[in-house]
Amino acid sequence: MNKTCAIVLAAGKGKRMKSNINKQFIKINDMPILAHTLNVFNKSKYIDKIILVAAEDEISYCKEKIICKYNFNNVVSIVKGGKERQNSVYNGLKAVKNCNIVLIHDGARPFISDDIIKKGIEFARIYGAAACGVMPKDTIKIKDTNGFSKSSLNRENLFIVQTPQCFKYDLIRKCHEKLIDKKVKVTDDTSVLEIFNYKTYLYDGDYSNIKITTPEDLIIAKEILKESKQKIY
Ligand code: CTP
Ligand code: MG
Repeated sequence: MNKTCAIVLAAGKGKRMKSNINKQFIKINDMPILAHTLNVFNKSKYIDKIILVAAEDEISYCKEKIICKYNFNNVVSIVKGGKERQNSVYNGLKAVKNCNIVLIHDGARPFISDDIIKKGIEFARIYGAAACGVMPKDTIKIKDTNGFSKSSLNRENLFIVQTPQCFKYDLIRKCHEKLIDKKVKVTDDTSVLEIFNYKTYLYDGDYSNIKITTPEDLIIAKEILKESKQKIY
């Protein structure tokens, strides 16, 4: 059972994008963001299966307009998401069958490379948990409750975590199960492990592996896509 499964999350509401459609269905270069993301995993030789997590009322749209249309035949199931990201992840984890490594990835992060996927799987096999990311370019401050600066963090020790985040399946499933009783909100899966004192190995991702979150990210995304096409052809 040396198999890998990617859980691609697409069940958010995309509130910060302020668009009238779910941000992952916005097209860049004529293809929905979510399709760009799924395309990388579907093509990857390191991924055996994909589970897509979508909002209940968007499942049929995803099936028809994304999975069937682009022929993503490695998507083995589509499951409904939950209220928070962590609920969506847990629903995805429950649908995993016969895989010992899982990669959890934001559907809104379309510029993931096969090399980052490969490294994540390798590190997860060694350390149990691995996540990619980059060093911040800006100075990060702690703000007090009155809106004034309190202190500055040492940039050398900081890391902006991205996805995919890769785990041994039993470990991440156990931690998510225990998280339900804790009633805490987290925004990524390395935080789930931290709560239970497990460490995640952090490795170099890429500045172009952006999460499309606010409207200006769409402008950047179009440029990244242009640049990557130039490299390929
Ligand atoms: N996500 C999810 N289920 C949720 C919340 C988020 O599957 N209940 C997914 C999103 O679809 C996205 C990824 O998790 O691909 C990262 O979340 P984020 O960028 O915060 O997306 P949204 O929650 O959709 O956006 P916002 O926070 O602006 O509403
Ligand atoms: Mg969110």
